[in-house]
Amino acid sequence: MLFSLPLLALLPATVSAHGFVHKFWVNDKTFTGNVPQAQATPSVVRQISQVDPVKGATNPFVNCGPNAQLAKQVADANPGDKVSFLWTGGDLSKWPHNIGPMLTYMTNCGDDCTTFDSSKAKWFKIDQVGRIPGDKDGNWFQNRIFVQPNVAANVTLPSNLAPGNYLIRHEIIALHLATQKGGAEFYPSCTQLRVGGSGTGVPAANELVQLPGAYSDTDPGILVPKVFDDVTAPYAFPGPPVAAFVGGSSGATKSSSATSPSQTGSSSSSKGKSCKLKRTATSSPSLKKRNIARPHKVSRIMRELAVGLRTVSQ
Ligand SMILES: *[C@@H]1O[C@H](CO)[C@@H](O)[C@H](O)[C@H]1NC(C)=O
Repeated sequence: MLFSLPLLALLPATVSAHGFVHKFWVNDKTFTGNVPQAQATPSVVRQISQVDPVKGATNPFVNCGPNAQLAKQVADANPGDKVSFLWTGGDLSKWPHNIGPMLTYMTNCGDDCTTFDSSKAKWFKIDQVGRIPGDKDGNWFQNRIFVQPNVAANVTLPSNLAPGNYLIRHEIIALHLATQKGGAEFYPSCTQLRVGGSGTGVPAANELVQLPGAYSDTDPGILVPKVFDDVTAPYAFPGPPVAAFVGGSSGATKSSSATSPSQTGSSSSSKGKSCKLKRTATSSPSLKKRNIARPHKVSRIMRELAVGLRTVSQ
């Protein structure tokens, strides 16, 4: 028999299993992000060209995602507003990953975000979430957008944020392959905002970073050999600390420091495996339906295996 179950278990997810920001909210106002490659309709979310992760900490696409395009619209917001990012797979299925942090940056666009080139932007961090404090399985906050469809990641804008035009960059770093250098998967997404109000909060010069620039492939939060083994180890967020002026604002998901011990769980590593499970053939209905024991199916399976392996090595 050419095929055995252990081999099948190595099959990674298909490309559609990665993803993009499909919906964005300011409080209860909804905006739609364009599907990668689809004909763009006016949006506030910068459209990317493909759902695959950005690989490599110095990859230019770490900036706002693969080939991110200027968006035509700008969403109005105020300091302290809740903004929400709904990540989905490329086929609008549920977000497929659950291991790794979610980080949020902003940069001032100057006069107009719709023409703003973000490649040389100076970004400040407003939020970062890692493992859920006290979660005995060491689950990450990312798991909350993974377990059910249509659950968005929520971030609170700094309550004292100075008015202006801003790009807000929400980023998921998926760490399920981060046991090896270059394995981390970066999913950045940029959305255009116009912030009103009369806040005075601005970052300090030494809190500003470029992206790419702020990360290295060997940062302890990007190359994480023990990500599945040690769920109690403090997670060291990559990039700068959250800007000091943000500190006073509320927000259930706020974290305080780059290596806060409160960002850790405490015991079993069982949940750490769920992302790996997700990458098996069981996550692909089209594969699951096929009867792999029948010889005339084998060449197709081999092709899919090859495609899948390419996906995993990206
Ligand atoms: C984000 O906010 C919405 C609306 O309040 C809520 O339903 C959802 O569970 C929140 N997401 C997370 C990850 O907590």
